Amino acid sequence: MPRQRAIATPLFTPRKRTRAEQRAAREQFAAARHQARLAAQQTARRSHDGIDPELRATYAPAGRPGPASGRGGKLKLPAHRMTTATASGAYPFLAEGGLGAEGIYIGRDVHAEAAFTYDPFALYGRLDGFTNPNILLAGIIGMGKSALAKSLATRAIAFDYRIYVPCDPKGEWTIVSQALGGDTIALGPGLPGRLNPLDAPDRPLGVREEDWFNEVRKRRLLLLASLARTVLKRDLHPMEHTALDVALDLVVAQADATGTTPLLGDIAHILSSPARLDAAFGEQSGRLGQAAEDLAHALRRLIHGDLAGMFDAPSTVRFDPTAPMLTIDLSRLGGTGDDTGLVLAMTCASAWMESALADPTGGRRWVIYDEAWRVMRHVALLERMQAQWKLSRGLGIANLMVIHRLSDLLTAGDAGSRGRALAEGLLTDCSTRIIYRQEADQLATAASLLGLTGVETQAVSALTKGRGLWKVAGRSFITQHILHPRERELFDTDARMHA
Ligand SMILES: Nc1ncnc2c1ncn2[C@@H]1O[C@H](COP(=O)(O)OP(=O)(O)O)[C@@H](O)[C@H]1O
Ligand SMILES: [Mg+2]
Repeated sequence: MPRQRAIATPLFTPRKRTRAEQRAAREQFAAARHQARLAAQQTARRSHDGIDPELRATYAPAGRPGPASGRGGKLKLPAHRMTTATASGAYPFLAEGGLGAEGIYIGRDVHAEAAFTYDPFALYGRLDGFTNPNILLAGIIGMGKSALAKSLATRAIAFDYRIYVPCDPKGEWTIVSQALGGDTIALGPGLPGRLNPLDAPDRPLGVREEDWFNEVRKRRLLLLASLARTVLKRDLHPMEHTALDVALDLVVAQADATGTTPLLGDIAHILSSPARLDAAFGEQSGRLGQAAEDLAHALRRLIHGDLAGMFDAPSTVRFDPTAPMLTIDLSRLGGTGDDTGLVLAMTCASAWMESALADPTGGRRWVIYDEAWRVMRHVALLERMQAQWKLSRGLGIANLMVIHRLSDLLTAGDAGSRGRALAEGLLTDCSTRIIYRQEADQLATAASLLGLTGVETQAVSALTKGRGLWKVAGRSFITQHILHPRERELFDTDARMHA
């Protein structure tokens, strides 16, 4: 479009004109100038709209606004030429060099204006201080945390990863799994899905039969104890541990004899028959049966209560180690505000999944806990997660935990309590922390827990959708996650809002 200009020549014409003519010329000029301004404004606005918001620079070309930026434009120095090696010493405030090209494409490094890629297994051993492949992802609702997790998952499959989602309380991973040819097990009242958390996975190659037997037994005991603790909301007494132990051995012996898999119902049955427990335990007869009363009632909830059937029957699916993705949809549970049902289901589901993941030759895997903040207050689940975190390197598993705010970690218990220690331990064992936008009142907590600098804290408060502060083993990046149109369609959780 030709540029519109106001031409002032008529104002400077010789004085031969009449006053009326001169006035008309002035008015004409004023009108033309007004028109030209309007046109300029419109083109400016149009070019502003035209830039994809994701691709817009964070700061104006003049730099970060404000007096502290030191870019008032008043300082004029003669140009000076030097090599980049010298320049980086003289002016060390340059953008990060990135993590290298190896890995999964995430999007754009906003400050370096470069592509940003990330792969925890590629970074391990290559980056100082990168001691584990686990990731913490925190941010307020709707900023694109799940979208990032789903993108990581989708793109990781191309790198031969397998993805497991033991915690999907919103059921939003199901369509992703379907699109990628994975499996989903939906659990809830009235649904056909069943998981037997006492399933024993196949013995991995190279593990001795006796060792494997002990491993399976240990896992089952741990599971039973955490289920009981979640319902009783207290730690178990030593006698109760013994009772679980004895009951499990009895049931396993029975099941082995008949060639079946033990069920939770069988365990509850033995726990509620004191005579059998005492007989099996021998010596201090008459006391174990009594001590197991609370346990029997606790397990009853899984068998006759609101979770009836779901975890007390042979599994309806077999774990398929070759499927690219497996998600457990828990959206039909825990909608009522009481999270205990959800936590019990998650305990059973993750126990089932974890035992299947115990094969160290299973390749690189990603375990994603979406909406993990909902389960942060339950020590039993934190313990499971911690055990998984510790195993991550040995098994080739990267864990990704999604929470809203960093203070979710602090609500796991009072200062000094076990829950708090576990939650803080999880954070310590995440070499990668991705911080999406935080509420203003959360910035101080985030800064102190993660050791953010003032500039980083300020950046976190101003992040937009899909943009996050990535702290990878002490290095910082502001990264814009870029979605492929097909991904955008698949991951859209705002669809109902638009409708
Ligand atoms: N990087 C992005 N670019 C464009 N849209 C995005 C991006 N990340 C997320 N979205 C969209 O924003 C919406 C909310 O994202 P979601 O991942 O569900 O948020 P969260 O899990 O943080 O609550 C989704 O509809 C998603 O498609
Ligand atoms: Mg989400």
